[in-house]
Amino acid sequence: MSNSLVVRRFASEPNCLRLMPMSTDKPETPPQERKRLVKAPTRGKEVGTRPKAVRVIKGNKMTQSSQAWLSRQLNDPFVTAAKAKGYRSRAAFKILELDEKYHFLKQGQRIIDLGCAPGGWVQMALAKGASNVVGVDLLYVEPMPPATMIQMDFTDPACGDRLIELLGGAPDVILSDMAPNTMGHRQTDHLRIVGLIEAAVDFTLETLRPGGTFVTKAFQGGEMEGVLLTLKRNFAEVKHVKPKASRAESSEVYLVATGFKGRSV
Ligand SMILES: C[S@@+](CC[C@H](N)C(=O)[O-])C[C@H]1O[C@@H](n2cnc3c(N)ncnc32)[C@H](O)[C@@H]1O
Repeated sequence: MSNSLVVRRFASEPNCLRLMPMSTDKPETPPQERKRLVKAPTRGKEVGTRPKAVRVIKGNKMTQSSQAWLSRQLNDPFVTAAKAKGYRSRAAFKILELDEKYHFLKQGQRIIDLGCAPGGWVQMALAKGASNVVGVDLLYVEPMPPATMIQMDFTDPACGDRLIELLGGAPDVILSDMAPNTMGHRQTDHLRIVGLIEAAVDFTLETLRPGGTFVTKAFQGGEMEGVLLTLKRNFAEVKHVKPKASRAESSEVYLVATGFKGRSV
């Protein structure tokens, strides 16, 4: 075999001359650059970019409001934190913040939770050492012993007696996070919400132990004035709080009424 070299020009590289062994019988192709089969690891992120918000792809089976709800849930840090801590709902952070400010959840209490699904507030009440917790919701709630949760409409005239019977005595604390499904008509929605809050206030004035606490979801403005006046007459103190977990764009606030004066007022 000869070691002689020869200068050759390849059709694919017209401007380049290559020295090749004279005896080569390989096809006339120049050496190719090898393609990369594996990309450098990026540890789950596109290099040089921030984590992106999860976007809901619009499909024709979902209503616009369901899409907006899903998108909010997927991007909500309180939803993520609730999952990480094993809380049943992001609402758990609201009651924790209210209690951090006013210290109304204590060991050995009897507590009623109105509108308790999926159970974040019940979970926090038990964690704070409540001895007996009874909840009610229109929706089924996964059991959480030793709490008792019933599926019933709170506005059913039989509901109040049933709750007290299950609790076994006057409640020390009544919590209400009830919110009806909105219908999209602002004024009607507001009246329905206020109606539920008024029903919770009536029940509280009938059943709460003197000295006890009532916490309710509320909304600014409109028909809330009457509720506020009633609470101020019947409790030593009434505070308005907008917890961090309450969405800024919502007019939702919470009322914390402490030091119930008793039924005679
Ligand atoms: C914001 S969620 C409550 C979240 C709850 N605090 C938690 O920690 O998981 C409001 C609940 O009120 C309930 N609700 C609305 N109207 C009701 C009614 N008339 N009787 C009972 N529950 C009702 C809804 O079904 C809904 O589950």
